Amino acid sequence: MLEQLEQIYQEAQVSLAAAASSEALHEWESRTIGKKGAVTLLLRSTGQLPKEERAAFGKRANEVKELLDAAFAERETQIKEIELIRSLESGQVDITLPGRAHPVGGLHPSTQTLRELYHIWADMGFQVFRSRDVEDDDTNFTLLNIPEHHPARDMWDTFYTTTPGVILRTHTSPGQIRAMRELGENGTQPIRVILPGMCYRYEQITSRSEMQFHQLEGLVIGRNIRMSDLKGTITAFARRMFGAKAAVRFRASYFPFTEPSMEIDVECFLCGGQGCKVCKYAGWLEISGAGMVHPTVLRNGGYDPSVWSGFAFGMGPERMTMLKHRISDIRYFWGNDLRFLEQF
Ligand code: PHE
Repeated sequence: MLEQLEQIYQEAQVSLAAAASSEALHEWESRTIGKKGAVTLLLRSTGQLPKEERAAFGKRANEVKELLDAAFAERETQIKEIELIRSLESGQVDITLPGRAHPVGGLHPSTQTLRELYHIWADMGFQVFRSRDVEDDDTNFTLLNIPEHHPARDMWDTFYTTTPGVILRTHTSPGQIRAMRELGENGTQPIRVILPGMCYRYEQITSRSEMQFHQLEGLVIGRNIRMSDLKGTITAFARRMFGAKAAVRFRASYFPFTEPSMEIDVECFLCGGQGCKVCKYAGWLEISGAGMVHPTVLRNGGYDPSVWSGFAFGMGPERMTMLKHRISDIRYFWGNDLRFLEQF
C-alpha cells in the first residue's frame, strides 16, 4: 500500500502541473484529495494494514495529503491569475454588471421636520436657543405660574428623579424663563427665539401618545408686542409649512403661563376641510398651543410687564410629521424599525 501511495503521489504531482484551467484543477481535486479521491481513500483504509505497518503508513499518507493540499492551493492561485489575465486580454470583462451598493444612512423623519421648522423660523428672524432636558421643578412649573399643589400640574404627568426637585422637562416652556434670564440682560433686551428639544411625560404609551417627543417652543419679547403679531406670525408660518392656501383658526384655550391662551388649528390639508379620518371629521388639525406671555412669567424672566410684552407658542414636530405623511401610530418614531425609517 505504501508503494501504491507513492505512485499516486508521483502521478498527482505530474497531473497537477498539467492542469491548466479551473475545471481541470477541480477535476484533479476530486480525483486525488477530494472526499472520494485516491489519497483520501487510501488514508481511510489504514486500518486494514497489519498493526505494525499502520503507524509508518499513516504518517506518510498524512504527509502526502498535506503536501498535495499545499500544492493544490498554490496551483489554484496561479490558475486564477492566468485566467484573469486571459479574460482581461480578450476584453471579456462585463462592465454592465451592477456595482455593489453600500448602505447609506438617512435623517430621522423627526430630524427632517425639525430642520424644515428651523429654516422657516430662521427666515422670520428666529434664532435657536438650546435649553436643558433635565430641569428643576421651579423652572418647569413654579416660575411658569404653576404653583406647587396647583391642580394645573395635572396637565403634565411628570418623570421625577431620585434627586428632590430635579425632573425631566414635561414641555419646552421652562426654556422661556432660561432664555429671558440669559438673553434679556435684566429685562432690557428684546428676544426672538425658538427652543427645540425633547420632552418627557409619564404617560401610557399608545398610538397617539409617547413618553418622549419633541416640542418646538417659540418666544418673542419686545415693546408693544400684541396678539395681532402672534396671529400674523403663526399664519405666515402655517402658509410656509402647509401651503399658501392653508387656513388657520385660533381657538380660546387655557395655559397657566399665557393670558390670553389659545390653540391653533390649520384646515385639514388632506380633505380640504371636508372632514376625514385624520382630522376626525372636524376639518381642522391642531398644530400648536400659544398665547401672550403672562405678566407673572415676564416678571420671573426679569422683565417689567408694564413696559414689555410678548407671545409664545409650543408645537409638536412628531404630530406634524404624522399629519404630513399620514403616519397612524406615534410609536413608530422611536421603535427603530428600519422598514419604517427607510421610507423617509
Ligand atoms: N407648553 C405647552 C404644552 O406643552 C404648550 C404652550 C407653549 C402653550 C407656549 C402656550 C405657550 O402643552
